Amino acid sequence: MTMAGAAGNDLSLPPLSANTDAGMRIPFVTAASLVIIWPWLSTAALAQQSNSLDSASPQAKSEVSPNDLDGRKMFSSNCGFCHQDGGRHAGRGPKLSKSERSDEFFVERIKKGKTGSMPAYGAVFNEAQIGALLAYIRGLDD
Ligand code: HEC
Repeated sequence: MTMAGAAGNDLSLPPLSANTDAGMRIPFVTAASLVIIWPWLSTAALAQQSNSLDSASPQAKSEVSPNDLDGRKMFSSNCGFCHQDGGRHAGRGPKLSKSERSDEFFVERIKKGKTGSMPAYGAVFNEAQIGALLAYIRGLDD
């Protein structure tokens, strides 16, 4: 019976149709409630995701401590690996101190990186932090 019910659409057997209906009721209800719940679940998940994104950035901003804006510290832990000696000498990346490049160019490069040679930091640092990195680079004396 249940097998016939599960098989479902055998309409050539009228005597079974009542049972088929009964057999189908539970799966149908389950499916229906899934259909009702599913969009809610995914919306909830999305909402949660964007909430955590939303709350992450203001939080990151409001919790920017002096250390988070310490350009030298940020540079040495994120950039120094390629920009040697705190940016004073070329390594995997070019020397940054005493550069002729514009602030705009530097900020763009830091945010977008360069495919194959430098990672993009636009999603890592906020504007203030990138500003602090720029200020640090500009403040290098040699
Ligand atoms: C994996 C190595 C690597 C890391 C890590 C890295 N860079 Fe770079 N960076 C490079 C390379 C390579 C270039 C040269 C790209 C090109 O060809 O224009 C570059 C270019 C730059 C430039 C432009 C310099 C110029 O004169 O063209 C700036 C500014 C810069 N990086 C800043 C940073 C900062 C700030 C960080 C850390 C947040 C950082 N970089 C992390 C490799 C790196």
